[in-house]
Amino acid sequence: MIELAEHIYLDNSATTAVALEVMAAMQPYFSVVYGNASSLHGFGRDARRAVENARAQIAETLGVQPEEIFFTSGATEANNLAIKGLAAANPEKRHVITTKIEHHAVLHPCAWLQTQGYDVTYLDVDAYGRVDPEAVRAAIRDDTLLVSVMAGNNEIGTIEPIARIGEICHERGVRFHTDAVQAYGKIPLPLEVIDLLSVSAHKLNGPKGVGFLYVRRGIKLTPLLHGGGHERGLRSGTENTPGIVGMAAAAQLAMSEQDEVVPRLREFRDRLIAEISKLPGTKLNGHPKESLPHITNFSFAGIEGESLVMRLDEHGIATSTGSACSSPNLEPSHVLQAIKVPLSMAHGSLRISTGRDTTAEQIATFLAVLPQVVADLRAISPFKVGE
Ligand SMILES: Cc1ncc(COP(=O)(O)O)c(C=O)c1O
Repeated sequence: MIELAEHIYLDNSATTAVALEVMAAMQPYFSVVYGNASSLHGFGRDARRAVENARAQIAETLGVQPEEIFFTSGATEANNLAIKGLAAANPEKRHVITTKIEHHAVLHPCAWLQTQGYDVTYLDVDAYGRVDPEAVRAAIRDDTLLVSVMAGNNEIGTIEPIARIGEICHERGVRFHTDAVQAYGKIPLPLEVIDLLSVSAHKLNGPKGVGFLYVRRGIKLTPLLHGGGHERGLRSGTENTPGIVGMAAAAQLAMSEQDEVVPRLREFRDRLIAEISKLPGTKLNGHPKESLPHITNFSFAGIEGESLVMRLDEHGIATSTGSACSSPNLEPSHVLQAIKVPLSMAHGSLRISTGRDTTAEQIATFLAVLPQVVADLRAISPFKVGE
């Protein structure tokens, strides 16, 4: 490992550092209050109290009822439970609508439904990555069960018009799910038109391996995991008490800091866009304004995104080429393909994602290092910019 004066972490969309306050909240639940939340004795009752307290705290951040929050192992599970669980509970409706820019944790459950005889419509997006609510309306059929559209994209940051999409779904009697992993704690969410919503703790300075699914009261889902009947029968498995407590602490922290952190992140994003756009052969991927405050994505002509990430890493700066899950895959990202970034540019993409610990100095250092790294890589590239 190289020794560096300071590491600069600009990959907060992949995961975040657990906040000290969150660690402190979790600490007692590893080896003091370690009972099984289902046990009858005092250790168990204390754990149960902590789990239910966390459920109430999380529900409050969304303005929903605690009984509408179901704990999972993360957003991948929450998305699978929403999509496959709803499908299994409603076998008479066999059409699902989603978009081409969803996370694989939505796309792959949808693809699996297709192997089970379901029909899935994958909606196109515009050049910024936005879904047209009218395209959702046009795609709804008599047998449409569910529409799943993410609140904000994890690769390019574009915010989707989910309030309008949710309204249309409700007018047509179709269930609406949103993957709010990157949006929760960053932008307001229109819960009044959302039936199912997925969140993951590790994207908001909470621990890895825990998340939740909001399920509007009255919606029936078939469980994916069968066992001891935890989470009112919807998700068996001993509750991850420290993780759940940590997620609630992280959610509360995110909400309490939102007014201070979000404008700062928005400023960083605007500065990144303004400065990187000045470099020759660059293209902003995603919407310049209607986007999440913490995600910026650029393409650099004549450069491989992986080389850029590696060179920046040598300078102690952590970034990504797209979603962390698809980085090892050399196919250009499905999101960049959907917004029709030319293949040559799609290979040279860089995602910069900031977080609550990012400082203005770190952004300045990154912006000072980037032009030289880009110039060095272009100097050894067989593709000349502008040719
Ligand atoms: C938009 C989105 N959905 C789902 C996930 C998966 O979440 P988890 O890591 O909790 O399974 C991620 C994580 O990369 C994400 O960014």
